[in-house]
This record gives sequence, C-alpha cells and structure tokens, in this order.
Amino acid sequence: MRKPMAAANWKMNKNSEETRQFLQEYMTQASDLSGAEVVICPPFTLLAMLQQELASPNAPAWGGQNCFWEDKGAYTGEVSAPMLKELGCSYVIIGHSERRIIMGETDGQINQKLKAVLNHGMVPILCVGETLQQRENNAALSIVKNQLDKNLKDLAVQPGQLVIAYEPVWAIGTGVNASSDDAQEMIACIRSRLRELFNDDLANSTRILYGGSVRDDNIAELMAKPDIDGALIGGASLEADSLVRIARIIANG
Ligand code: 13P
Repeated sequence: MRKPMAAANWKMNKNSEETRQFLQEYMTQASDLSGAEVVICPPFTLLAMLQQELASPNAPAWGGQNCFWEDKGAYTGEVSAPMLKELGCSYVIIGHSERRIIMGETDGQINQKLKAVLNHGMVPILCVGETLQQRENNAALSIVKNQLDKNLKDLAVQPGQLVIAYEPVWAIGTGVNASSDDAQEMIACIRSRLRELFNDDLANSTRILYGGSVRDDNIAELMAKPDIDGALIGGASLEADSLVRIARIIANG
C-alpha cells in the first residue's frame, strides 16, 4: 500500500546543460521503470526546466530542497511554497541536516515550513537524524523522537501527505551507510511515534525513507527491511544510470 520511493537530492549541483543531458539519459533508461515513484529535487534554478522536460505521464515527479514559511514579502533570498507549486513541484524536502547544521534552521522553523508546504497542496519530505556523537551517546532514538515531536507539532496532515527521511548525519556523503538493522530499528520507531502523535492510518500510509551513502550495492539490503520504503539519495543520484539502477532495486522492494 506504500508505493516505494526513490528521491534524488541533487543539493547544490548541476547546471542546465548537465541537467538536460541527465534527463535525456534518465528518460531513455527508465522508460519501462514502474513500481517505484521517482522524485528529482534539483536546485531552484532548474525547476522550470524540469517542469518543461518532464511533462510526459511516465516521467518522475520533482520537488524543491527547501522553502520559506511565508507566501511572499520582504524575505530576501527566500523562495515560498506557492512559488514551488507554480513550478509543478509535488514534493519539498524540509529540515535536511545540511540546513539544520550549516544554516542553523530550528525545529520551530521546520514546523512552520511543513505547514506552508501542506497548505499549498504539496507533500513535504521531512528529514530527521542524529549526529555521530549523539549515536555514540546512545541518544539517537531520543534525538529523532524529539525532532519529530517538535517538527510535526499541530500539523494537519492527511494519510499519504507526508514522507519522512531518516538520514543519520554521520552517513551523509561519507560512504558509510547505517546498517540495515539500525535503519530498520530507527524507522520502526519513527512509524510508532507517528501512530502516537496521529493515528494508525497516518503511521501506516507514511513512506519512511533511508538516506545516507545509498548506492546500488547497498540499497537491496535496506529495502529488505519491512519499514523502509525507499531512499533519499544524494551523490549517487547525480548520474542517470546510477539513479535508475537504484530506483529499479527500490521498485522490486
Ligand atoms: P549522500 O547520498 O550523498 O550520502 O547524501 C544523502 C543525503 O543527504 C540526501 O538528502
């Protein structure tokens, strides 16, 4: 009932020529891909191109990597949820650890951003996860539970309108992924917290992804776990053939 998802987070990578080439390769190689929903989240500057190039029914969805919580106003440098909606975004990544740590985004701001995304009819991909020090201190579960409680506070969300990505900070861009057992343990805890905060329906329908050094040679083991519904992929999503290989494995569950 939860359609597996392969979400590509391109971060601050690619210009328009590289993107055009990626999309051409992707569409050729993935023409028969079904069974997984693929979402591409490029930098803001490339969204209009994706909207134009991905108009066909079999094409992946696309989304933003962040947005501001107000719809418009004097917020220099920010991009709002309705602006992303206008560019055809179905998803918006919210609360990525790079934004929490480098840009100092707070749990309260993330909560406001989630509300803005939902208000404009898009699905947020909320990122949560602990640092290495927090894991070594045996605090990983409580840290993530605390993020969920603060980020999801007073959220009016219907089943199917939320995606969560568990991304341990120490696994991002390091080549060291979480073990499938550790990822499953955390993701099962996230699902049970959703049950407590909302209800069974929301817990059972929310896709919970794993992110952090996902590649085509480690995703199968992660996907074999019952609560892991797909992946949020950074570096390995930048080449079309790599993303397609990962998406095929995700589609096969
Ligand atoms: P990597 O796949 O490059 O480790 O990045 C993961 C990530 O941060 C996706 O949001």
